[in-house]
Amino acid sequence: MSQIPQSIIIHPADHLGGAIEVPGDKSISHRVAMLAGIAKGATTVRNFLQSEDCVNTLRAMEALGARTTVTEDNELTIQGTGSNLLEPAGQLNVGNSGTTIRLLAGLIAAQPIKIVITGDESLCARPMGRITEPLEKMGAKVELTGEKGTAPITITGAKLKGLDYVLPIASAQVKSCVLLAGLFAEGPTTVTEPIPTRDHTERMMRAFGIPVEVDRLQVRVMGHGEKGPQFKGISFTVPGDFSAAAYWMAAVAARPGATVTVKNVGLNPRRTAFSDVLKQMGAKVEIRETSGPDDAEPMGDIKVTGARLHGVEVGGAVIPNLIDELPLVAVVGALAEGQTVIKNAGELKVKESNRIATTAANLRLFGVEVEEREDGLAVTGGAKLIPTGPVRSYGDHRIAMAMSILATHAAEKVLINNVACVDTSYPAFWADLRKLGAHVE
Ligand code: S3P
Repeated sequence: MSQIPQSIIIHPADHLGGAIEVPGDKSISHRVAMLAGIAKGATTVRNFLQSEDCVNTLRAMEALGARTTVTEDNELTIQGTGSNLLEPAGQLNVGNSGTTIRLLAGLIAAQPIKIVITGDESLCARPMGRITEPLEKMGAKVELTGEKGTAPITITGAKLKGLDYVLPIASAQVKSCVLLAGLFAEGPTTVTEPIPTRDHTERMMRAFGIPVEVDRLQVRVMGHGEKGPQFKGISFTVPGDFSAAAYWMAAVAARPGATVTVKNVGLNPRRTAFSDVLKQMGAKVEIRETSGPDDAEPMGDIKVTGARLHGVEVGGAVIPNLIDELPLVAVVGALAEGQTVIKNAGELKVKESNRIATTAANLRLFGVEVEEREDGLAVTGGAKLIPTGPVRSYGDHRIAMAMSILATHAAEKVLINNVACVDTSYPAFWADLRKLGAHVE
């Protein structure tokens, strides 16, 4: 883990750009660790994201009986349990990681063990009723002991039956929780999504040889009962994280003529909408796919050339595809001419922070005019950015990183407080920001 200081100063940057490789995809790393942990034998993973969130998933799988080793060049080996999980000695603390708690709850709900999963203050304030409701319908014994339908969550193993579940919200985490539980149920489990969300769980299940049927918005897995699916470990390379690449794409997008090339990035079409948004705003985006048709996840290189940007409106079915990039859409909107509107994005309120409020509060600190709405934001771009105080991350990694990109455009240096949270997803972020030419203290 890198030694990240608590505060950072970003100086205005006239030139930014270059070529960069981003760390492994966070969502995929979580899923590989979990599926490898229930596989038979060894799985080797290259480019696993060694960030706090994903390490928390690895530690959880170890507490459940998996064994892991990692070489110096970041090749991770996970010895799986063959779906035979052990009862952990104490409670599992998964830190800040919503993906870990929600997916893990599904994975272990049918195991004959009792387990308590908890996390940090932010995680223990996030809604968990969205997973306990379908899990209980499957027969799981789950209890939320937090104040308002929140973690800690206690799970006592129970027999599960397959479920036909219509997701009330577009959430890949809830979909994945139900599908993972479905593998350990009697009979098939079908999840129907209101709009498409990221499909890394489905793709990784297939990569491990677990059958998954997809018919438009319906995803179905077979139940294997409490013994669970029997499959072998694999060898897998995690593509770079598009959501990490998005910071560098945003860093040059509003700088006419500046370029950045991000190499070996995941190009899953349910994740890349931010590149379309930048194009709509006027930036040039060129994508070269390097993966083949047999690869579980598409990947390639993305080159962005900056331009004078204009505002854009984003909303509707594209929102899940952009969900983690929305603070960045607001940041780029602040650098564009005219108004940028984000709508249908009420889910932002239940992320690592309330990202409608925390994005708006920080944009205002830079002197940007912004309207907070129930389901999004309206940002008026084009103002000179004169910071009136330190930026606050609110302990949210994506807020810290998005605001640091805005800070490179400010008229004066900017202090960003409480940035250790960046370690949850991108420990090398500040080093990479420097690599592209920013002056970071
Ligand atoms: C994730 C899904 C999204 C996303 C999160 C990671 C995943 O959350 O915001 O960062 O790995 O499945 P929701 O499914 O809650 O929208």
